[in-house]
Amino acid sequence: MIAKTVHQEIAQLRQQINAHDQRYYVWDDPSISDAEYDLLMRRLIELEQRYPQLISPTSPTQKVGGAPLAQFNSVTHRIPMLSLDNVYDDQGMQDFYHRVFERLQQDSSLTSDWVCEPKLDGIAVSLTYANGVFVQGATRGDGFNGEDITENLKTLRSIPLQLSGDDFPTLVEIRGEVLINKRDFAALNQQADLEKPFANPRNAAAGSLRQLDSRITAKRPLSFYAYALGYVEGQALPNSHWSRLQQIRAWGLRVNHEVKVCADLPAVLAYFHALAAKRDALDYEIDGVVCKINSMDAQQQLGFVARAPRWAVAYKFPAYQGITTLEAVDFQVGRTGVITPVARLKPVEIGGVVIRNATLHNQAEIERLDCRLHDQVLLHRAGDVIPKIIKTLAELRPAHAQAIAFPDTCPVCATELLRSEDHALCRCPNGLQCPAQLKAAIKHFASRQALDIEGLGEKLIEQLVDGGYVSNVADLFTLTVDSLAQLERMGSKSAENLMAALQHSKSTTLPRLLYALGIRDVGLTTATQLALHFSSMEKLSLATEAELLEVNDVGTVVAQQVLAFFQLPQNRDMISRLQQVGVHWPNIETIDTSDQQHHPFYGKTFVITGTLPNLSRDEAKAKLEALGAKVTGSVSKNTDFVLAGENAGSKLEKAVALGVRVLQVEDIAELG
Ligand code: IVH
Repeated sequence: MIAKTVHQEIAQLRQQINAHDQRYYVWDDPSISDAEYDLLMRRLIELEQRYPQLISPTSPTQKVGGAPLAQFNSVTHRIPMLSLDNVYDDQGMQDFYHRVFERLQQDSSLTSDWVCEPKLDGIAVSLTYANGVFVQGATRGDGFNGEDITENLKTLRSIPLQLSGDDFPTLVEIRGEVLINKRDFAALNQQADLEKPFANPRNAAAGSLRQLDSRITAKRPLSFYAYALGYVEGQALPNSHWSRLQQIRAWGLRVNHEVKVCADLPAVLAYFHALAAKRDALDYEIDGVVCKINSMDAQQQLGFVARAPRWAVAYKFPAYQGITTLEAVDFQVGRTGVITPVARLKPVEIGGVVIRNATLHNQAEIERLDCRLHDQVLLHRAGDVIPKIIKTLAELRPAHAQAIAFPDTCPVCATELLRSEDHALCRCPNGLQCPAQLKAAIKHFASRQALDIEGLGEKLIEQLVDGGYVSNVADLFTLTVDSLAQLERMGSKSAENLMAALQHSKSTTLPRLLYALGIRDVGLTTATQLALHFSSMEKLSLATEAELLEVNDVGTVVAQQVLAFFQLPQNRDMISRLQQVGVHWPNIETIDTSDQQHHPFYGKTFVITGTLPNLSRDEAKAKLEALGAKVTGSVSKNTDFVLAGENAGSKLEKAVALGVRVLQVEDIAELG
């Protein structure tokens, strides 16, 4: 006999875990930490292991996957899973809109508003619940027959094994999209156990759903968004699409938060353009807007044509891909001497932006793409990053196509290049003697997060180096108004402004200077950690590898770079020359790490938002971390403090709403 209390505890744990899943996935409002959640789950697993007779197929523990299948069975959809017609511009949308209204007016006096939804770029699936229990999950397949992937879909935490409440039809099919978030995708592709990285989140989702071993699927960060009902038996449902979506939510499934009701065509178009502007900032990939008529009677009335409904349309975003001609390849020398091939393209418009250049990364990439001059290439533009060539259209290769010759010597200083064996890296070893590397080093030195020398732009640096005025960063501070005024396009006013900016930049901080020196692999965050730890340039320059490894986030690679930098006499000379010409930086008061535990911020979670006065977010983050605080990206109930600067937006609002304490830079002595 199993004690009644065990039954009760198990039932209670299941109910709690389901409720937390729902809060997390459906309402985006978790009320416990991951650790607390894991504790509940571990306790349930433990009880079910002890009393296997109490395991239920709808228990949340059943989401770990089961024995591998030999193959997927075929499933015939009770109602076909259709596709959508596409439109590509406002005119197309307007035509669709008017067509629908004319048709409705002809046949009846029906009118309706609209529901606009993101067109999620994932994999369409159908979930069948019998008496509230998840019994079958299938892919769309050819629209009529799909594959039975029930075991795989069971492992998704956003797919409940049991619907919430008791108000559901005897049989109901919920349709939606399975996808992988952009951030989870990046992490997934880093995992060592993948045979080969996935090309994009959609392929990753498809590959993960196609696993015969559901234990593998269980480890993939898949998530489900519902967007419609399919077959329903045994209960009348609300008569608008919007209220059906609310019903789906109430059953415990997730509906995307961007879904909105739009009254008329202007509202639909405004929704489309607003979502297009937001597209890159969303954490999942979308490729358009689906616009559906809200009234179910109107949907019924309009029906289908061929394989698409008349009552909905997909307004697709401009393609992020395009085809153009590769006209030339230039070889750029970076700050560290790395040679990067850059494709010069016949200008082509992709998603509203004219593209003229694309990165080719390295020689190995050119070999992989097997692209030649005058080839047609397929380009991809993602957000604001530099466009990439993803494929050569070899079948269209013209007779005069020409192989791309990777240079053997530096295109700027003619020094022989060093190559890694796999051709992934090619470098000019001439350091600051190479004018290209010197210019890049000066540009970095003058950049906003480094010494922030206003007015010292690329063109001017070019003139200063080519004219022999400057051969290292310290020379900048020996320039005079007279020497500057000799430069082309440099009036006396600009010369004076630059002199003032140089003078101003002499007073700096240790983290900024360290970053400005351009030590390889030392970004601003690492520079700040190093500065906080060693407190002076002198101590840092004398640090041993073991001492360097004590610094937060410093591993052997960074430690080696720092050691190598300070071992070179010319680098030490440069630092003393900077001091001689008047560049100065105060030492940092050391924070005794053994005192960390007593600091009021020790172990506290911070979120930084808005523009901070006089210090960058990275600097603030590093300083808070040095006090033992944790800095995270989003505000939740677990956030202890929000550090708010100017123009703080939604994070600040959320903090206020949640009652999280808001601090200003002035409130934190260590940030001064
Ligand atoms: S409704 C009968 N809503 O787009 C209309 N589809 O081309 C059924 N999709 O395979 C589809 N987001 O996978 C609908 N919010 C959304 C969608 C969506 C993505 C996909 C769906 C379907 C394809 C149709």
